[in-house]
Amino acid sequence: MSERAIGVDYSELHRMDSPANRLLRDSIWGKDLDIGQQSFITPRYLDDMIRHLGIGPETHLLDVGAGTGGPAVYIANATGCRVTGVEINEVGVEVSNRLAADAGLSDRVTVVQGDAHTIPFEDETFDAGLSLNVMNVFEDKVRVFREVLRVLKPGGRWGFLSGTFDFIPEDDDARERLKRGYLIPQYYDSLATYKQKLYEAGFRIDEVVEHISDFWTQVRRWGDGYRTNREALAQEQGEENTAYHIDYFDTYLSLVEAGRASNHFVVSRRPGGGGADTPV
Ligand SMILES: C[S@@+](CC[C@H](N)C(=O)[O-])C[C@H]1O[C@@H](n2cnc3c(N)ncnc32)[C@H](O)[C@@H]1O
Repeated sequence: MSERAIGVDYSELHRMDSPANRLLRDSIWGKDLDIGQQSFITPRYLDDMIRHLGIGPETHLLDVGAGTGGPAVYIANATGCRVTGVEINEVGVEVSNRLAADAGLSDRVTVVQGDAHTIPFEDETFDAGLSLNVMNVFEDKVRVFREVLRVLKPGGRWGFLSGTFDFIPEDDDARERLKRGYLIPQYYDSLATYKQKLYEAGFRIDEVVEHISDFWTQVRRWGDGYRTNREALAQEQGEENTAYHIDYFDTYLSLVEAGRASNHFVVSRRPGGGGADTPV
């Protein structure tokens, strides 16, 4: 799939204030939990990730696949850090930078248009990297991990939140249906293959966190959001697209409840710079 096709597919969702997207967002998060995310993220998840990555006022954080910038703005606000996002979709870039300006954070939150396969920054630019529900769009994850490693300073932490799957043969049909993904094709990994790919790219793994109850709630709410607002969404975004997403989230939820799908936050580190590399 070309970059242009990817961008076109995400543009519709990234127009967060369209009438149907507004209804969808209110169903999923209500006013209190809507921080401008486009994922399974909630503020509670983010607070936990901030702690695990040790983000503070001195941190320059990379956000890979920043979406519409809500999480980046939230993190900058909560910690005083600086965030630079890389996002392939131009609507996402535009909305992100508007959200940052509205929050008075343009000096600390910037999202640039770019591709995670070729991150447009110098080697050793960032203290830490984060990515929220993006990894499954990458067929060659080792390549993306190597790019992240390159732009992190030695010892820099890399935490990504991603859906993880342990398919069994009887899931073949479900797997096929999920492959089209949420707007763009998905390439699924298990936690085990993620770990292998991180080591292959040169990372050392620190820890893995699994937030099961928040994740289950989010998957269910996305499905219910599409179902409840089906008419408005079908009118704005097409009947086929709406029906597909109801099936997508229902299928996802059934795999979660079968114990074969989850959402892990995997924290690793570029070797060097002391820390985990210091012998104990
Ligand atoms: C599910 S959204 C998550 C957005 C954001 N991280 C959040 O939690 O709100 C996935 C994002 O990844 C972006 N993306 C897809 N392919 C990309 C690539 N090759 N490089 C950078 N961003 C990409 C999409 O445009 C989309 O905004």
